[in-house]
Amino acid sequence: MSYLNLKRPRRNRKNDSIRSLIRENSLTTNDLIAPLFLIDGKDKRVPIESMPGFSRLSRDLLLKEVRELWQMGIKCVSLFPALDESLKDKFATESKNPNGLLQQTIKDIKNAIPDMLIMTDVAMDPYSSDGHDGLVDDKTGEILNDETLDILSAMALNQAQAGSDIIGPSDMMDGRIRAIRETLDNEGFHNTLIMAYTAKYASYFYGPFRDALDSAPKSGDKKTYQMDYHNVKEAIREIKLDEEEGADILMVKPGISYLDVIKEMKENTTLPVAAYNVSGEYAMVKAASERGWLDGDMVALEMLTSFKRAGADMILTYFIRDVIKYLA
Ligand code: PBG
Repeated sequence: MSYLNLKRPRRNRKNDSIRSLIRENSLTTNDLIAPLFLIDGKDKRVPIESMPGFSRLSRDLLLKEVRELWQMGIKCVSLFPALDESLKDKFATESKNPNGLLQQTIKDIKNAIPDMLIMTDVAMDPYSSDGHDGLVDDKTGEILNDETLDILSAMALNQAQAGSDIIGPSDMMDGRIRAIRETLDNEGFHNTLIMAYTAKYASYFYGPFRDALDSAPKSGDKKTYQMDYHNVKEAIREIKLDEEEGADILMVKPGISYLDVIKEMKENTTLPVAAYNVSGEYAMVKAASERGWLDGDMVALEMLTSFKRAGADMILTYFIRDVIKYLA
């Protein structure tokens, strides 16, 4: 039997060579940012149970890790300090310590590899005895917006002074980008970038991250400041605000259940768009892979490529060591 079938999409799939030639999106090391967890001490590697294969590292080991990532072609790391409970208080005071764990580690990296970009998170939770991203009103439990802005601005300034290249406000307070931008500019840090966590949703995918930093809220949840996951128009409002307030890069978080939001963001801004492939997304793949139910590396590659297809210019992910061997 012979059919006159002029259009045969399978011709463009017939072997790997043609598939690579027509490929629309590719994942490379240029797209990836490595989040890393930092702990006090020396020669310490403390595994995170809910993130198999991922550990909190002491300064010396973290520096070693950053050197290896640099050699593998990674150009940016995002640092998260896991602090002892004794260093946490209501006002996140430790975040302003110029000799704190984070600040010293930033200096280590900058001395060793000046061109490695360092991103730092701005939110109160790793430093807060309340485990919230903002200041908690003791009487009402309300997260106080404008009072928090002063704390966040001081935190951002302190990180910039330590050598951070990219400030990443992840707190979702209103007006934080403007407050931080003005503070940085007033102090001469007009070249420090801001990557705004623009559309950050109140998500159950953050569980393992909160295990890693022991930073879960002590009471309530984050729904009065992080976005409601039923919504996407609200993300566009946030885009407009962060653009007006001076953000350099916009982010969507989490990633894999929010590919529509990434696409929407890409279409509604001329700024670069980042996606955060969060801890819970990592944990799900690792858990299934440990049981032999999924090929973890291949699923990770597929997930990360889907971020690119949706429009992300860069991706924060814990999968770097799993996927890098497959990348150009
Ligand atoms: C802190 C912060 C969180 C994450 C990044 N920065 C947790 C949260 O908002 O509760 C989550 C990252 C992840 O799950 O990988 N504000």
